[in-house]
Amino acid sequence: MLRGHAPRAFTLPKKENSMKVALLTSGGDCQGLNPTLRGVAKALYYLVPDVEIYGVENGYKGLIENRIRPMSPSDFSGIVRLGGTILGTSRQPFKTMTTEDGLLSEKAKRIIENYRTNGFDALVVLGGNGTQKTANLLYENGVNVTFLPKTIDNDISGTDLTFGFDSAVAKATDVIDAVHSTAESHGRVFVVELMGHDVGWIALYSGVAGGADIILIPEIPYDTERVLDAVRERNKIGKGFTIIAIAEGAMTKEEHSMKKKERAALTDTAGGRLANSLQEVLRHEDKEVRLVVPGYFLRGGDPTATDRVLCTRLGVKAAELVAERRFGFMVAEVGQDIVVVRLAEVTGVLKRIGANSQFVREAKRIGIVFGD
Ligand code: F6P
Repeated sequence: MLRGHAPRAFTLPKKENSMKVALLTSGGDCQGLNPTLRGVAKALYYLVPDVEIYGVENGYKGLIENRIRPMSPSDFSGIVRLGGTILGTSRQPFKTMTTEDGLLSEKAKRIIENYRTNGFDALVVLGGNGTQKTANLLYENGVNVTFLPKTIDNDISGTDLTFGFDSAVAKATDVIDAVHSTAESHGRVFVVELMGHDVGWIALYSGVAGGADIILIPEIPYDTERVLDAVRERNKIGKGFTIIAIAEGAMTKEEHSMKKKERAALTDTAGGRLANSLQEVLRHEDKEVRLVVPGYFLRGGDPTATDRVLCTRLGVKAAELVAERRFGFMVAEVGQDIVVVRLAEVTGVLKRIGANSQFVREAKRIGIVFGD
């Protein structure tokens, strides 16, 4: 037991043939968590008449501390349009789940122990990359895991889309749209820095959707001179303003060639560094640069309709896997289909944008500059 949290022992004996399923949301939140929980639960209540569903509070932390509550159908009602997560979430980095020798850490052992002593038959995990690594570790150590790909970053391999991404792109596009009019009025350069961790999916999608002139992503290290040239080109053709969508993980070619440690020591964010370098040069050309960082705004508010549909479909598939007692899988969207993928096959594989992918080439065809 940790820091005085009384374990919520389940006094009711398990009904014969019943199934005890624990649900958990972990890592950074996003708009699609609640509709996904709803999809899983509604389909479970439908498929497994005797199912007992439990909610783990605040991600893996709740399993470490045994903070688990029984849920009822009404808990999952009316939440399809709700952002955040009714279960709460936290970050429990994967590196804390193993020891230096690659053995299970105390935290991981506690998770497994609480999973077993509570008599769970399945653990349904909604999370991103780090959460996925822990889910796979737990599965390899006997926990019946079903995994659903959540993240605004869209960086999980094996699925075309992760839930949360579409909603974040919608928010990011709103920001770029709003910035357009003020950029145009003042003839300014606007740098819009967008979340996305080590990948540029949000910047690419919202940049294209919002009509950004320049898109800078981690997958394509950029040359500041190329960015300056693009701004000047626009001036020449009478477009006095420029919108730059930059992913928070984007880097210049020089930064790209640095060692990881050196890069981590860089001050300021990617957008801040770019805005400063541009302003230093452009102030001599009578041009002002402004930085906009929407940050967590992208993760807040309601899920889009597209996300709600994806969440529901993934949730139903996850429930089917649990009902069939097939574990160790991630549910995924591939093309128009919802499919299952072995966790071991996709865990730890970051889904990045191909620098020469069709999408990037199409964006270049309409004149978007990537700074390469
Ligand atoms: O992974 C989602 C994400 O929003 C990233 O885009 C961002 O880099 C990170 O989480 C922020 O993390 P935190 O919520 O821990 O500040």
